[in-house]
Amino acid sequence: MQAQWNERFAAPGHKYGTEPNAFLRQQAALLAQASQVLVPGDGEGRNGVWLATQGHQVLALDYAEAGLAKARALADQQGVSHRYSAQWADLADWTPPRQRFDALVLVYCHLPSAVRRVAHPQLASLLSPGGWCIVEGFHPRQLQGYTSGGPRDIDMLLTLADLRAEMGDLLDETLAFEGEVALSEGSGHQGPGHVTRWVARRR
Ligand SMILES: C[S@@+](CC[C@H](N)C(=O)[O-])C[C@H]1O[C@@H](n2cnc3c(N)ncnc32)[C@H](O)[C@@H]1O
Repeated sequence: MQAQWNERFAAPGHKYGTEPNAFLRQQAALLAQASQVLVPGDGEGRNGVWLATQGHQVLALDYAEAGLAKARALADQQGVSHRYSAQWADLADWTPPRQRFDALVLVYCHLPSAVRRVAHPQLASLLSPGGWCIVEGFHPRQLQGYTSGGPRDIDMLLTLADLRAEMGDLLDETLAFEGEVALSEGSGHQGPGHVTRWVARRR
């Protein structure tokens, strides 16, 4: 998978565009000024870099070097390199930082369920009390006739039940949605998609 992501991100342009995810843009109003935000699986940086342009201090993680390089270039281009740090990490085998965060943003960070069940509680535990978790990902129903992107492997798709089981011990849910939305994010996500959206807050 890592090689595939590097290959995709080596192509010219930004697979999911350079604008942030629409749900993140909406929900980011929850964040206090100058929040410390962790963005695992930030890919080519559209979400993390946008958060940095909003005044937040962002740590982005990804295991695709080609994505990290483009994300750093985007941050540079937008004049926010001082607020955007992109680090290599494989969420299947990583040492969480000692730092605590005010927000955790997981946008289309699809992982095999065995990896996700370990990574999600680990990531949630890095939030400070009151810290926000904002998630959007494809739901298993995306496999039923939708062509707007996402892994074609049900094991990597995401339900509210998964999120509640994996992070509900640490976080209180404030918004939960499973359903169809219109996606327009680069060439990677176009058209109707069946997604899971979740917002929760660290106790
Ligand atoms: C669908 S892309 C989404 C990128 C970005 N979040 C966005 O919405 O534009 C999934 C990203 O997760 C990253 N990823 C997948 N598995 C990973 C892992 N085990 N560790 C770190 N990053 C991973 C990929 O490299 C890729 O950048």
